[in-house]
Amino acid sequence: MGGANGKSGLRVWRNARLATMADGAAGFGIVEKGAIASRDGLIVYAGPDADMPAAAGQGAETVDCAGRWITPGLIDCHTHLVYAGNRANEFEMRLAGATYEEVARAGGGIVSSVKSLRAVSEDELVAQTLPRLDALMAEGVTTVEVKSGYGLDADNEKKSLRAARRLGDERSVTVRTTCLAAHALPPEAKGDKDAFIDLVAGTILPQVAAEKLADAVDGFCEGIAFSPEQMALVFDKAKALGLPVKLHADQLSNLHGAVLAARYGALSADHLEYTDEEGAEAMAKAGTVATILPGAYYFIRETKKPPVDLFRRHGVKMAVATDSNPGTSPLTSLLLTMNMAATLFGMTVDECLAGVTREASRALGLLDSTGTLEVGKSADLAIWDIERPAELVYRMGFNPLHARIWRGQ
Ligand code: NIG
Ligand code: FE
Repeated sequence: MGGANGKSGLRVWRNARLATMADGAAGFGIVEKGAIASRDGLIVYAGPDADMPAAAGQGAETVDCAGRWITPGLIDCHTHLVYAGNRANEFEMRLAGATYEEVARAGGGIVSSVKSLRAVSEDELVAQTLPRLDALMAEGVTTVEVKSGYGLDADNEKKSLRAARRLGDERSVTVRTTCLAAHALPPEAKGDKDAFIDLVAGTILPQVAAEKLADAVDGFCEGIAFSPEQMALVFDKAKALGLPVKLHADQLSNLHGAVLAARYGALSADHLEYTDEEGAEAMAKAGTVATILPGAYYFIRETKKPPVDLFRRHGVKMAVATDSNPGTSPLTSLLLTMNMAATLFGMTVDECLAGVTREASRALGLLDSTGTLEVGKSADLAIWDIERPAELVYRMGFNPLHARIWRGQ
């Protein structure tokens, strides 16, 4: 990266308004008349233009931002981006009256995406995924988490994770991968959930870890998926392999998944529509981030909202993500996702913006390296043609991105 731009990797953005999103800073951490300097892809200055040390700007390639806003590059911390085909047919079934659970129990749902994914090559999977990644990046996404979970055997889970890793070679974006083998029961398991959990913990996770294909382990704790006891076995193995955990928790019912996630010191618990106060308390104590996923709530016409007020009251940090997947959230816009979090759940503009930057970074365990505009972090920036940050949350289906910078480029 160093000499790539010919000026010892030194770049400066001036005449900008910054929303640094720094932890503890009031509001958005606003700096009017701000500047950012980066060297070799890292932020070496972020603050008032007038205070920038001369050394930071010396010999740098300088960009005049003409008063535009700069935020941290956006982070989508929960996606199932790697899949094959789509499930528009199930969407039509649901429009005719079937529920998501009914579709799943009738052999549709996740299992139909498993059939599609197993039928394609890794190359084909990458090719089908890139347009979705491009849509996210077009709105300023610089880091994306990608889960497996449509393979459900060792070879196909690894194929999915390899495809996910390759996205990061194909595009200028940071990809974090999560093994979600405990997502659903594949047809060959013939209804034996315990035996499948044995396969996940005994075979799939060790192979995935040995090949360093995953940065974290996730599971789906739900009546139509796995019990808290079964998830605990998966988490025990993840811990033994040195991998942090996350959980799809309390999405359709309260199985106390939030409590389970907290007990394992999970980076995040996600969905959380049915989480109660005990769950919120446990998450606060454990520092587990609540990942709010309004796309799935909207798309399956859920009516129970995640307890945002409880999370606020207990000081649980909230991330916001697309949950981009073929079944419950065919959504590839983090801007629209913020609008949904605000409109459907009453999250503030500040909470929404923090949810797709600082808190999303925290939910991935990346807060030391990205998610805010602070010295020492990756120069991942989104530059916007807006007058105030609220515009990023307020609009629906409009993209005011002016430029996207990943690692200083
Ligand atoms: O996050 N909840 C489980 N997993 C996905 C849905 C996956 C699917 O239906 O394909 C979710 O909503
Ligand atoms: Fe999900």
